[in-house]
Amino acid sequence: MTLFVTGGAGFIGGNFIHYYLKQHPDDRVVCLDKLTYAGNISTLSPVMDNPKFRFVKIDICDRKAIYKLFEEETPAIVVNFAAESHVDRSIENPEIFLQTNILGTQVLMDACRKYGIQRYHQVSTDEVYGDLPLDRPDLFFTEETPIQTSSPYSSSKAGADLLVMAYHRTYDLPVTISRCSNNYGPYHFPEKLIPLMIVNSLADKPLPLYGEGLNVRDWLYVADHCRAIDLIIHEGRVGEIYNVGGHNEMKNIDIVKLICKELGKPESLITHVTDRKGHDMRYAIDPTKIHNELGWLPETKFEDGIKKTIKWYLEHREWWETIISGEYQNYYEKMYGNRERVR
Ligand code: NAD
Ligand code: DAU
Repeated sequence: MTLFVTGGAGFIGGNFIHYYLKQHPDDRVVCLDKLTYAGNISTLSPVMDNPKFRFVKIDICDRKAIYKLFEEETPAIVVNFAAESHVDRSIENPEIFLQTNILGTQVLMDACRKYGIQRYHQVSTDEVYGDLPLDRPDLFFTEETPIQTSSPYSSSKAGADLLVMAYHRTYDLPVTISRCSNNYGPYHFPEKLIPLMIVNSLADKPLPLYGEGLNVRDWLYVADHCRAIDLIIHEGRVGEIYNVGGHNEMKNIDIVKLICKELGKPESLITHVTDRKGHDMRYAIDPTKIHNELGWLPETKFEDGIKKTIKWYLEHREWWETIISGEYQNYYEKMYGNRERVR
Protein backbone atom coordinates (compact mmCIF):
# COMPACT_ATOMS: atom_id res chain seq x y z
CA MET A 1 0.00 0.00 0.00
CA THR A 2 1.31 3.44 -0.90
CA LEU A 3 0.59 6.46 1.25
CA PHE A 4 1.14 10.04 0.10
CA VAL A 5 2.17 12.43 2.85
CA THR A 6 2.21 16.06 1.75
CA GLY A 7 4.21 18.60 3.77
CA GLY A 8 6.34 15.79 5.19
CA ALA A 9 9.46 17.96 5.44
CA GLY A 10 7.65 20.17 7.96
CA PHE A 11 7.17 19.74 11.69
CA ILE A 12 4.16 17.44 12.07
CA GLY A 13 4.40 15.78 8.64
CA GLY A 14 8.05 14.87 9.35
CA ASN A 15 7.15 13.40 12.73
CA PHE A 16 4.28 11.53 11.09
CA ILE A 17 6.56 9.95 8.46
CA HIS A 18 8.99 8.71 11.15
CA TYR A 19 6.06 7.38 13.17
CA TYR A 20 4.27 5.76 10.23
CA LEU A 21 7.28 3.93 8.79
CA LYS A 22 7.94 2.39 12.23
CA GLN A 23 4.31 1.37 12.75
CA HIS A 24 3.67 0.09 9.22
CA PRO A 25 6.99 -1.26 7.88
CA ASP A 26 5.24 -2.96 4.94
CA ASP A 27 3.65 0.23 3.57
CA ARG A 28 5.38 2.62 1.20
CA VAL A 29 5.44 6.33 2.02
CA VAL A 30 5.91 9.01 -0.60
CA CYS A 31 6.55 12.49 0.79
CA LEU A 32 5.41 15.41 -1.38
CA ASP A 33 6.90 18.72 -0.28
CA LYS A 34 7.68 22.03 -1.94
CA LEU A 35 10.45 22.75 0.59
CA THR A 36 9.31 26.24 1.47
CA TYR A 37 11.16 28.10 4.23
CA ALA A 38 9.38 25.73 6.67
CA GLY A 39 10.42 22.52 4.94
CA ASN A 40 13.70 20.92 6.00
CA ILE A 41 15.00 17.96 4.11
CA SER A 42 17.32 17.20 7.05
CA THR A 43 14.21 16.31 9.08
CA LEU A 44 13.84 13.32 6.77
CA SER A 45 17.50 12.25 6.67
CA PRO A 46 16.90 9.31 9.08
CA VAL A 47 14.54 7.70 6.51
CA MET A 48 16.11 8.78 3.22
CA ASP A 49 17.78 5.38 2.75
CA ASN A 50 14.68 3.39 3.69
CA PRO A 51 13.60 1.49 0.54
CA LYS A 52 9.96 2.03 1.57
CA PHE A 53 10.39 5.81 1.41
CA ARG A 54 10.53 8.27 -1.48
CA PHE A 55 10.87 12.05 -1.36
CA VAL A 56 9.48 14.20 -4.19
CA LYS A 57 9.99 17.97 -4.30
CA ILE A 58 6.67 19.23 -5.63
CA ASP A 59 4.14 22.02 -5.12
CA ILE A 60 0.65 20.70 -4.27
CA CYS A 61 -0.76 23.57 -6.39
CA ASP A 62 1.03 22.24 -9.50
CA ARG A 63 -1.83 20.25 -11.01
CA LYS A 64 0.13 18.74 -13.89
CA ALA A 65 2.96 17.50 -11.69
CA ILE A 66 0.55 16.19 -9.05
CA TYR A 67 -1.49 14.24 -11.63
CA LYS A 68 1.70 12.76 -13.06
CA LEU A 69 2.79 11.57 -9.64
CA PHE A 70 -0.62 10.03 -8.93
CA GLU A 71 -0.43 8.17 -12.24
CA GLU A 72 3.04 6.91 -11.40
CA GLU A 73 2.44 5.90 -7.78
CA THR A 74 -1.33 5.15 -7.48
CA PRO A 75 -1.55 5.98 -3.76
CA ALA A 76 -4.26 4.33 -1.62
CA ILE A 77 -4.25 7.06 1.02
CA VAL A 78 -3.36 10.76 0.95
CA VAL A 79 -2.65 12.65 4.16
CA ASN A 80 -2.45 16.38 3.53
CA PHE A 81 -0.22 18.24 5.97
CA ALA A 82 1.13 20.69 3.37
CA ALA A 83 0.20 24.21 4.34
CA GLU A 84 1.38 27.64 5.20
CA SER A 85 0.98 27.27 8.94
CA HIS A 86 2.12 30.41 10.77
CA VAL A 87 -0.55 32.88 11.91
CA ASP A 88 1.88 35.84 12.10
CA ARG A 89 3.03 35.31 8.51
CA SER A 90 -0.61 35.11 7.37
CA ILE A 91 -1.21 38.53 8.91
CA GLU A 92 1.71 39.92 6.86
CA ASN A 93 0.83 38.19 3.58
CA PRO A 94 -2.45 36.26 3.31
CA GLU A 95 -2.24 35.37 -0.40
CA ILE A 96 0.08 32.38 -0.29
CA PHE A 97 -2.10 30.96 2.51
CA LEU A 98 -5.15 30.98 0.26
CA GLN A 99 -3.17 29.48 -2.60
CA THR A 100 -1.54 26.59 -0.79
CA ASN A 101 -4.11 25.87 1.87
CA ILE A 102 -7.25 26.08 -0.27
CA LEU A 103 -6.25 25.68 -3.91
CA GLY A 104 -3.56 23.10 -3.11
CA THR A 105 -6.17 21.06 -1.25
CA GLN A 106 -8.45 21.28 -4.27
CA VAL A 107 -5.73 20.01 -6.63
CA LEU A 108 -5.01 17.04 -4.36
CA MET A 109 -8.69 16.13 -4.11
CA ASP A 110 -9.17 16.48 -7.87
CA ALA A 111 -6.28 14.04 -8.34
CA CYS A 112 -7.92 11.68 -5.83
CA ARG A 113 -11.17 11.82 -7.82
CA LYS A 114 -9.42 11.30 -11.15
CA TYR A 115 -7.21 8.38 -10.14
CA GLY A 116 -9.28 6.92 -7.29
CA ILE A 117 -8.40 6.77 -3.60
CA GLN A 118 -9.29 4.77 -0.48
CA ARG A 119 -8.99 7.77 1.79
CA TYR A 120 -8.16 11.47 1.58
CA HIS A 121 -7.30 12.88 5.00
CA GLN A 122 -7.16 16.61 5.66
CA VAL A 123 -5.00 17.74 8.58
CA SER A 124 -6.86 20.73 9.94
CA THR A 125 -6.73 22.81 13.09
CA ASP A 126 -8.76 23.83 16.13
CA GLU A 127 -8.24 27.44 14.97
CA VAL A 128 -11.18 27.02 12.58
CA TYR A 129 -13.46 27.33 15.63
CA GLY A 130 -12.13 30.80 16.53
CA ASP A 131 -11.48 31.30 20.23
CA LEU A 132 -13.10 30.89 23.63
CA PRO A 133 -13.33 33.46 26.43
CA LEU A 134 -10.91 33.14 29.37
CA ASP A 135 -13.73 33.44 31.92
CA ARG A 136 -15.66 30.39 30.64
CA PRO A 137 -13.41 27.41 31.45
CA ASP A 138 -16.48 25.17 31.05
CA LEU A 139 -16.52 25.76 27.24
CA PHE A 140 -14.69 23.50 24.77
CA PHE A 141 -14.58 23.07 20.99
CA THR A 142 -16.61 20.07 19.83
CA GLU A 143 -17.01 18.95 16.22
CA GLU A 144 -20.36 20.79 16.23
CA THR A 145 -18.88 24.15 17.25
CA PRO A 146 -19.54 26.60 14.41
CA ILE A 147 -16.63 27.72 12.27
CA GLN A 148 -15.67 31.30 13.15
CA THR A 149 -12.17 32.22 12.15
CA SER A 150 -9.91 35.07 13.25
CA SER A 151 -6.80 35.13 11.03
CA PRO A 152 -6.15 34.70 7.32
CA TYR A 153 -4.44 31.43 8.26
CA SER A 154 -7.43 29.99 10.12
CA SER A 155 -9.79 31.25 7.40
CA SER A 156 -7.77 29.45 4.75
CA LYS A 157 -7.84 26.23 6.78
CA ALA A 158 -11.60 26.60 7.32
CA GLY A 159 -12.09 27.22 3.59
CA ALA A 160 -10.19 24.02 2.86
CA ASP A 161 -12.28 22.06 5.39
CA LEU A 162 -15.51 23.25 3.76
CA LEU A 163 -14.20 22.22 0.37
CA VAL A 164 -13.22 18.77 1.69
CA MET A 165 -16.74 18.21 3.04
CA ALA A 166 -18.22 19.49 -0.23
CA TYR A 167 -16.11 16.98 -2.23
CA HIS A 168 -17.44 14.25 0.03
CA ARG A 169 -21.07 15.23 -0.39
CA THR A 170 -20.93 16.16 -4.07
CA TYR A 171 -18.49 13.59 -5.46
CA ASP A 172 -18.59 10.96 -2.72
CA LEU A 173 -14.85 11.36 -2.10
CA PRO A 174 -13.92 9.22 0.95
CA VAL A 175 -12.59 11.93 3.22
CA THR A 176 -11.81 12.48 6.89
CA ILE A 177 -10.69 15.63 8.70
CA SER A 178 -8.79 16.01 11.97
CA ARG A 179 -8.77 19.29 13.89
CA CYS A 180 -5.93 19.33 16.35
CA SER A 181 -4.77 21.75 19.02
CA ASN A 182 -1.22 23.19 19.31
CA ASN A 183 1.52 20.60 18.83
CA TYR A 184 5.03 20.68 20.27
CA GLY A 185 8.02 18.36 20.00
CA PRO A 186 11.09 17.65 17.81
CA TYR A 187 11.60 19.37 14.43
CA HIS A 188 9.32 22.31 15.34
CA PHE A 189 10.33 25.34 13.28
CA PRO A 190 11.68 28.09 15.58
CA GLU A 191 9.16 30.72 14.50
CA LYS A 192 6.52 29.13 16.77
CA LEU A 193 6.24 29.86 20.50
CA ILE A 194 7.93 26.86 22.15
CA PRO A 195 10.94 26.35 19.85
CA LEU A 196 11.46 30.12 19.51
CA MET A 197 11.61 30.51 23.27
CA ILE A 198 14.00 27.55 23.64
CA VAL A 199 16.32 28.81 20.92
CA ASN A 200 16.31 32.41 22.19
CA SER A 201 16.86 31.28 25.80
CA LEU A 202 19.89 29.26 24.75
CA ALA A 203 21.34 32.41 23.15
CA ASP A 204 20.34 34.59 26.16
CA LYS A 205 18.21 36.66 23.79
CA PRO A 206 14.96 38.47 24.81
CA LEU A 207 11.87 36.22 24.89
CA PRO A 208 9.17 38.20 23.02
CA LEU A 209 5.84 37.50 24.69
CA TYR A 210 2.83 39.01 22.93
CA GLY A 211 0.77 41.33 25.17
CA GLU A 212 0.28 40.13 28.72
CA GLY A 213 1.03 36.50 27.78
CA LEU A 214 -2.32 35.38 29.21
CA ASN A 215 -3.57 33.67 26.03
CA VAL A 216 -4.24 29.98 26.49
CA ARG A 217 -3.31 27.14 24.14
CA ASP A 218 -4.11 23.42 24.50
CA TRP A 219 -0.73 21.68 23.97
CA LEU A 220 -0.33 18.17 22.58
CA TYR A 221 2.91 16.23 22.10
CA VAL A 222 3.34 15.70 18.36
CA ALA A 223 3.59 11.88 18.55
CA ASP A 224 0.10 11.80 20.07
CA HIS A 225 -1.22 13.75 17.08
CA CYS A 226 0.53 11.32 14.70
CA ARG A 227 -1.09 8.36 16.44
CA ALA A 228 -4.51 10.01 16.20
CA ILE A 229 -4.12 10.51 12.43
CA ASP A 230 -2.92 6.93 11.98
CA LEU A 231 -6.07 5.72 13.77
CA ILE A 232 -8.38 8.01 11.80
CA ILE A 233 -7.06 7.00 8.37
CA HIS A 234 -7.39 3.30 9.17
CA GLU A 235 -10.40 3.13 11.49
CA GLY A 236 -12.14 6.51 11.31
CA ARG A 237 -15.52 6.83 9.61
CA VAL A 238 -15.61 8.35 6.14
CA GLY A 239 -17.12 11.85 6.02
CA GLU A 240 -16.35 12.51 9.68
CA ILE A 241 -14.44 15.24 11.50
CA TYR A 242 -12.41 14.33 14.60
CA ASN A 243 -11.14 16.86 17.13
CA VAL A 244 -7.75 15.98 18.62
CA GLY A 245 -6.47 17.47 21.87
CA GLY A 246 -5.44 16.40 25.35
CA HIS A 247 -7.01 18.81 27.86
CA ASN A 248 -3.69 20.48 28.48
CA GLU A 249 -4.40 24.19 28.59
CA MET A 250 -1.60 26.53 29.50
CA LYS A 251 -1.04 30.29 29.48
CA ASN A 252 1.78 31.45 27.23
CA ILE A 253 3.53 33.16 30.12
CA ASP A 254 3.59 29.94 32.14
CA ILE A 255 5.12 28.02 29.24
CA VAL A 256 7.86 30.61 28.81
CA LYS A 257 8.61 30.65 32.54
CA LEU A 258 8.82 26.85 32.52
CA ILE A 259 11.30 26.94 29.61
CA CYS A 260 13.42 29.48 31.51
CA LYS A 261 13.36 27.23 34.58
CA GLU A 262 14.28 24.07 32.64
CA LEU A 263 17.19 25.84 30.95
CA GLY A 264 18.36 27.70 34.07
CA LYS A 265 17.75 31.10 32.48
CA PRO A 266 16.44 34.24 34.28
CA GLU A 267 12.80 35.25 33.77
CA SER A 268 14.13 38.76 33.16
CA LEU A 269 14.70 37.62 29.56
CA ILE A 270 10.90 37.72 29.11
CA THR A 271 9.97 40.87 27.17
CA HIS A 272 6.33 41.85 26.71
CA VAL A 273 5.89 43.14 23.16
CA THR A 274 3.05 44.45 20.98
CA ASP A 275 0.24 41.92 20.77
CA ARG A 276 -0.63 39.87 17.66
CA LYS A 277 -3.50 41.47 15.67
CA GLY A 278 -6.80 39.64 16.25
CA HIS A 279 -5.06 37.41 18.83
CA ASP A 280 -7.22 34.41 19.81
CA MET A 281 -7.59 34.19 23.61
CA ARG A 282 -8.14 30.53 24.34
CA TYR A 283 -8.27 27.22 22.50
CA ALA A 284 -9.59 24.09 24.20
CA ILE A 285 -10.53 20.83 22.50
CA ASP A 286 -13.15 18.34 23.62
CA PRO A 287 -11.70 15.01 22.38
CA THR A 288 -14.68 12.86 23.45
CA LYS A 289 -15.54 11.70 19.92
CA ILE A 290 -12.10 10.34 18.99
CA HIS A 291 -11.82 8.77 22.44
CA ASN A 292 -15.21 7.04 22.27
CA GLU A 293 -14.99 5.95 18.62
CA LEU A 294 -11.31 5.13 18.22
CA GLY A 295 -10.06 4.72 21.79
CA TRP A 296 -7.53 7.56 21.37
CA LEU A 297 -6.08 9.27 24.42
CA PRO A 298 -2.88 11.30 24.66
CA GLU A 299 0.04 9.33 26.09
CA THR A 300 2.61 12.03 26.82
CA LYS A 301 2.05 14.36 29.77
CA PHE A 302 3.13 17.96 29.23
CA GLU A 303 5.74 17.82 32.06
CA ASP A 304 7.47 14.92 30.27
CA GLY A 305 6.88 16.17 26.73
CA ILE A 306 8.41 19.58 27.34
CA LYS A 307 11.50 18.00 28.96
CA LYS A 308 11.89 15.62 26.00
CA THR A 309 11.47 18.54 23.60
CA ILE A 310 14.07 20.73 25.32
CA LYS A 311 16.47 17.76 25.41
CA TRP A 312 15.93 17.25 21.68
CA TYR A 313 16.80 20.89 20.93
CA LEU A 314 19.93 20.62 23.09
CA GLU A 315 21.00 17.44 21.26
CA HIS A 316 20.13 18.65 17.74
CA ARG A 317 21.71 22.08 17.63
CA GLU A 318 22.83 21.57 14.07
CA TRP A 319 19.22 21.15 12.88
CA TRP A 320 18.03 24.50 14.23
CA GLU A 321 21.32 26.42 14.01
CA THR A 322 21.30 25.84 10.25
CA ILE A 323 17.76 27.24 10.09
CA ILE A 324 18.39 30.34 12.15
CA SER A 325 21.64 31.18 10.38
CA GLY A 326 19.89 31.77 7.03
CA GLU A 327 16.83 33.71 5.79
CA TYR A 328 15.36 33.34 9.30
CA GLN A 329 17.45 36.33 10.44
CA ASN A 330 15.60 38.61 8.01
CA TYR A 331 12.27 37.14 9.13
CA TYR A 332 13.16 37.75 12.77
CA GLU A 333 14.18 41.34 12.15
CA LYS A 334 11.00 42.00 10.15
CA MET A 335 8.62 40.45 12.70
CA TYR A 336 10.30 41.46 15.95
CA GLY A 337 12.60 44.39 15.03
CA ASN A 338 9.79 46.95 15.17
CA ARG A 339 7.67 45.21 17.75
CA GLU A 340 7.52 47.66 20.62
CA ARG A 341 8.36 46.61 24.13
CA VAL A 342 5.12 47.23 26.05
CA ARG A 343 6.55 46.80 29.55
P1 NAD B 1 5.03 23.45 8.93
O1 NAD B 1 4.91 24.88 8.53
O2 NAD B 1 6.09 23.06 9.91
O3 NAD B 1 5.25 22.55 7.63
C1 NAD B 1 4.53 22.74 6.44
C2 NAD B 1 5.19 21.90 5.35
O4 NAD B 1 4.41 22.05 4.16
C3 NAD B 1 6.63 22.35 5.00
O5 NAD B 1 7.46 21.24 4.86
C4 NAD B 1 6.45 23.06 3.65
O6 NAD B 1 7.61 22.99 2.83
C5 NAD B 1 5.28 22.29 3.07
N1 NAD B 1 4.54 23.08 2.06
C6 NAD B 1 4.08 24.35 2.17
N2 NAD B 1 3.49 24.74 1.03
C7 NAD B 1 3.54 23.67 0.19
C8 NAD B 1 3.07 23.44 -1.13
N3 NAD B 1 2.44 24.39 -1.83
N4 NAD B 1 3.28 22.23 -1.69
C9 NAD B 1 3.93 21.25 -1.01
N5 NAD B 1 4.42 21.42 0.23
C10 NAD B 1 4.22 22.62 0.83
O7 NAD B 1 3.59 23.04 9.44
P2 NAD B 1 3.17 22.08 10.65
O8 NAD B 1 3.20 22.83 11.91
O9 NAD B 1 3.92 20.80 10.52
O10 NAD B 1 1.64 21.83 10.28
C11 NAD B 1 1.27 20.78 9.38
C12 NAD B 1 -0.23 20.80 9.20
O11 NAD B 1 -0.87 20.63 10.46
C13 NAD B 1 -0.76 22.11 8.63
O12 NAD B 1 -1.78 21.80 7.72
C14 NAD B 1 -1.32 22.84 9.84
O13 NAD B 1 -2.38 23.68 9.46
C15 NAD B 1 -1.79 21.69 10.69
N6 NAD B 1 -1.77 21.90 12.16
C16 NAD B 1 -0.65 22.35 12.79
C17 NAD B 1 -0.65 22.45 14.18
C18 NAD B 1 0.57 22.93 14.94
O14 NAD B 1 0.51 23.10 16.15
N7 NAD B 1 1.71 23.12 14.29
C19 NAD B 1 -1.79 22.10 14.91
C20 NAD B 1 -2.94 21.67 14.21
C21 NAD B 1 -2.91 21.54 12.84
O1 DAU C 1 -4.00 25.57 17.45
C1 DAU C 1 -3.36 24.99 16.37
C2 DAU C 1 -2.45 26.00 15.71
O2 DAU C 1 -1.34 26.19 16.58
C3 DAU C 1 -1.98 25.56 14.33
O3 DAU C 1 -3.09 25.49 13.47
C4 DAU C 1 -0.94 26.54 13.77
O4 DAU C 1 -0.43 26.04 12.54
C5 DAU C 1 0.20 26.65 14.77
O5 DAU C 1 1.15 27.58 14.31
C6 DAU C 1 -0.34 27.07 16.14
O6 DAU C 1 -0.86 28.43 16.08
P1 DAU C 1 -0.63 29.48 17.27
O7 DAU C 1 -0.79 30.83 16.73
O8 DAU C 1 -1.40 29.10 18.48
O9 DAU C 1 0.93 29.14 17.60
P2 DAU C 1 2.20 30.08 17.84
O10 DAU C 1 3.32 29.19 18.29
O11 DAU C 1 2.47 31.02 16.72
O12 DAU C 1 1.74 30.96 19.09
C7 DAU C 1 1.32 30.34 20.31
C8 DAU C 1 0.95 31.45 21.27
O13 DAU C 1 2.14 32.16 21.64
C9 DAU C 1 0.01 32.48 20.69
O14 DAU C 1 -0.88 32.91 21.70
C10 DAU C 1 0.94 33.64 20.28
C11 DAU C 1 2.05 33.56 21.31
N1 DAU C 1 3.40 33.99 20.85
C12 DAU C 1 3.90 33.43 19.70
C13 DAU C 1 5.13 33.80 19.23
C14 DAU C 1 5.68 33.20 17.96
C15 DAU C 1 4.14 34.90 21.58
O15 DAU C 1 3.70 35.36 22.64
N2 DAU C 1 5.37 35.25 21.12
C16 DAU C 1 5.89 34.76 19.96
O16 DAU C 1 7.04 35.16 19.58
